[in-house]
Amino acid sequence: MQPKVRASVPAKVILFGEHFVVYGKRALATAIDRRLTVEACGREKRGYHVAIATLPTFGLELDLDARTGAAQQVRPYKDYSTAANALAYVRGSVEYLEERYGIGHEGVELTITSEIPLSAGLGSSAATCVATIAALTAYFGVKSDLATIRHDAHHVEQLVQGAASPIDTAISTHGGYVLVERGEVQQLQLPELELLVGSVGSIPLSMETARAVDLGLKTKTLVAGVRARRELFPRIFDALFNAADELTTEAIPAIEQGDVTRVGALMNLNHGLLEAIGVVPRRLSELVKVSQELGALGAKVTGAGGSDELGGVGSVLVLPGESREKIKTAFELEGALAMPVRTGSAGLRLERSG
Ligand code: PMV
Repeated sequence: MQPKVRASVPAKVILFGEHFVVYGKRALATAIDRRLTVEACGREKRGYHVAIATLPTFGLELDLDARTGAAQQVRPYKDYSTAANALAYVRGSVEYLEERYGIGHEGVELTITSEIPLSAGLGSSAATCVATIAALTAYFGVKSDLATIRHDAHHVEQLVQGAASPIDTAISTHGGYVLVERGEVQQLQLPELELLVGSVGSIPLSMETARAVDLGLKTKTLVAGVRARRELFPRIFDALFNAADELTTEAIPAIEQGDVTRVGALMNLNHGLLEAIGVVPRRLSELVKVSQELGALGAKVTGAGGSDELGGVGSVLVLPGESREKIKTAFELEGALAMPVRTGSAGLRLERSG
């Protein structure tokens, strides 16, 4: 039997402090029980063959020649040929590992399966990097540890997308909760929360090619927009950033004490700040409002947010209290993907067989 390595990692949500973290403020994030898996095994032909079945949005496959950088024939499973940039993270990981660790180029089949919607602010890019790097280093017998895998994955994410905060790769690798402060990542032990994630139109099949490519750069575009607006009103924005920092600081003991009323109120406040800095498109704003109306303890945008020009694609996070089923139904009626999730899930899991 051929050796097989399977690496599975969790998705992330930012509970408090997205965007503000870019300015050195505190942010709290957690792993959720939606996972991405990369399986590496041998194949007859040389080179890497990658198959992605990223449910529930779309799937692609291609032959990736990491040595020459040539990708031959991207084949969509669902007649959707524009999201090849998702594969950039796999290519980036393979090229980085070849250069840094001299991993081999004999035939490798990489199969990626995911429960994490793309471009939804749930960390699918970081998850792809962490799981690909973990699977390939284990497959080739390269000695590594969690800190090195996290560091390598963060490096690849930065190479591929220009800039990336360390939050996503830290969560995908270690799981649990992390606090980021002035770029430093600290793991925290906090109790589990039951949340509801609502994701809007993760790359709709109908979207034009140019727009879909823009989506790959969504976080970058939104971060740049905040920077531009801050330049107009630096003192006001600095006051908002400081308020966000306080919010994250208050949230930690509230979660620790299981004070969900307080956690929810802080989420609502955090959402207001995200509205103020201009990263909440209409569709996400409506999901938050509907949740609050139906009795959620708290609701907010999570991750980079979105913009109306990019179809309002993005996610919201809800602390639903007793109203979970009602809110879930309302999200589905609005055409959003509604995912009940638990926080604090386990980080990287590696399994070998054969
Ligand atoms: O939507 P995401 O997962 O890309 O979240 C981005 C979070 C930001 O704070 C907006 C950017 C960052 O690098 O921290």
